Amino acid sequence: MSRYHEPVLKEEVLRYLNPPEQGWIVDGTLGDGGHTELILKNTGPLLHVLGVDRDAQAIERATKRLAPFSDRATLVHGNFGNIRNILKKVNVMSVDGVLLDLGVSSPQLNSPQRGFSFMHDGPLDMRMDQTQKTTAANLLKNLSDSELVSVIKEYGEERFSKRIVRAIRKAQVQASITTTLQLSDILASVAHTSRPTRIHPATRTFQALRIAVNNELEHIKIALSNSLEILNATARFMVISFHSLEDRIIKNFFRDEEKGCICPPRIPVCACGHKQRLKVLTRRPLVPMKEEVQRNPRASSAKLRVAERIYV
Ligand SMILES: C[S@@+](CC[C@H](N)C(=O)[O-])C[C@H]1O[C@@H](n2cnc3c(N)ncnc32)[C@H](O)[C@@H]1O
Repeated sequence: MSRYHEPVLKEEVLRYLNPPEQGWIVDGTLGDGGHTELILKNTGPLLHVLGVDRDAQAIERATKRLAPFSDRATLVHGNFGNIRNILKKVNVMSVDGVLLDLGVSSPQLNSPQRGFSFMHDGPLDMRMDQTQKTTAANLLKNLSDSELVSVIKEYGEERFSKRIVRAIRKAQVQASITTTLQLSDILASVAHTSRPTRIHPATRTFQALRIAVNNELEHIKIALSNSLEILNATARFMVISFHSLEDRIIKNFFRDEEKGCICPPRIPVCACGHKQRLKVLTRRPLVPMKEEVQRNPRASSAKLRVAERIYV
């Protein structure tokens, strides 16, 4: 696959990142390196980027793409949840900005072998980090009925989760479900008996399994609080999300970290010691302009929230 992932909200990312002349920016979701390249092209020789991705293939592709900037880009295969340890390993104490562009990249989605998409037939894999053991096929085999129902209901926000699990179990009596097309056919057959939908009937269940396989929401929560520990004063914290489950986590986190004391109102003297750590710069999330969505339909659900680290 030669075509690179098209980074979303490029102008907005550059404008809000406001990088200093000298220092470090973390791109915690390096992907094809599109945002990192944008940052490096628009900054001077003393600004460095630490790019992290849990997908080794992404690191390989980005390394080639960013070769002209190799003296200013440090690329690491790892999970953004471990950002503090990763920084320690590369001897960086604190940083001047963190960018997270959540979700999957186009090369992941478009490669049948990775098993993320119901549009291509391939193994039911969905691991972002291929050194991990659990795949989507393993989850279908090993989760109990009630666990699978909650995964599909909560992570896919799918109303027909019980009906879907019944259909999956029925199919598994005949044969294990090991490919994307097998699963997508089962989901289409359930939809056929339930309701007409605007989106493909496999969309929600595939999203749910992907989130579960990669434990995505947990890693986001860990990354949010760890990032606060590494940001310098006035450094920008920027997160691009693509669905409501992700966006809710970011919105609530930013809102809570914008508060000072969080003691109940009846307590006369503060006992919680909670201090404000962020100032939110985007009351409403930034979304792409119409032209961007026309050019890149994948951008249509992108939301960028930005906050500034403050020390009080
Ligand atoms: C939307 S793509 C990023 C695209 C990138 N901004 C670009 O311009 O090419 C998301 C990337 O984040 C990576 N990713 C998702 N969760 C991660 C995590 N917990 N730690 C590290 N990387 C993660 C995925 O493997 C994927 O490559």
